[in-house]
Amino acid sequence: MAIRNIVKLGDEILTKKCREVTVFDEKLHTLIDDMIETLEQADGVGLAAPQVGILKRVAIVHTSEKIIELINPVIVSASGEQTDYEGCLSYPGKYGKVTRPNVVTVRACDRYGKLYEVTGRELMARAFCHEIEHLDGHMYIEKVTEWMEESE
Ligand code: NI
Repeated sequence: MAIRNIVKLGDEILTKKCREVTVFDEKLHTLIDDMIETLEQADGVGLAAPQVGILKRVAIVHTSEKIIELINPVIVSASGEQTDYEGCLSYPGKYGKVTRPNVVTVRACDRYGKLYEVTGRELMARAFCHEIEHLDGHMYIEKVTEWMEESE
């Protein structure tokens, strides 16, 4: 495994739409493993492949118990509402208020290409929405209603 460089806001790769994954091979597994190591080192909640410069529909979300690997993820249902501060490893040190659904169910493939569904609430639901937006070239900053004051 290797730690990859995280692309920062302003890099046009973050504005591109990612391609579907069609081959679930060793190369994909290496990408996912590297993303996991990169996310853990950065102490983040989620990471999408374009953030490490790869335009593929791959994202990971780190919940309290485990890491969820989302390949070709699609939101199949969303309900409720939550408003809270959100940040992104591609825009370090900044936090903005974003309203999201409170419960989100995602259909995705695992690293072997097997379809599954996962439901998350609160922070996990927020992370699913945030990471899937990255795969379409969008960032949460487009949805911020209020930025957190800088302390210094
Ligand atoms: Ni992000």
